[in-house]
Amino acid sequence: APDLALLQPVLSELAPQGRTALLPALHAAQDLYGYIPEPVAEEIARTLRIPLADVFGVLEFYALFHTEPVGKVIIHVCNDPACALAGADTVLKQLSRHAEYALETGELVSVTIEQAPCLGLCDHAPALLIQNTPATASPESTWQELVAKTGR
Ligand code: FES
Repeated sequence: APDLALLQPVLSELAPQGRTALLPALHAAQDLYGYIPEPVAEEIARTLRIPLADVFGVLEFYALFHTEPVGKVIIHVCNDPACALAGADTVLKQLSRHAEYALETGELVSVTIEQAPCLGLCDHAPALLIQNTPATASPESTWQELVAKTGR
């Protein structure tokens, strides 16, 4: 179970703001735990006095929030029309074939790949966010090229 005490300082600071603090609270929680476990969502709902269903609604709406443990490197692949036309499906398939990739050092890093709606990077279709950094990939992109974009 997640250690809820970790979140307490942030939550007590945000509590007076109620519902308007929901996004900051979720971002803080994700920074702390890497994802948003259910007990954490419940704690946020309770502290901010928001129905739990609303919290889950927000978690579902924003592709950037995770409700399951994620890899060390997170890649969002846009699957909206402009990117789909530019080959986003192929990029996604390529990436999904490798749940992990080897860095030059030989270290294995877990990767989570998620589909996302328009990332606002349509000029760079097919667009990706690698660790929240915009990137573009051709359907032929190799893992090495993508890893280089993460700056690792
Ligand atoms: Fe893919 Fe906009 S359609 S970034």
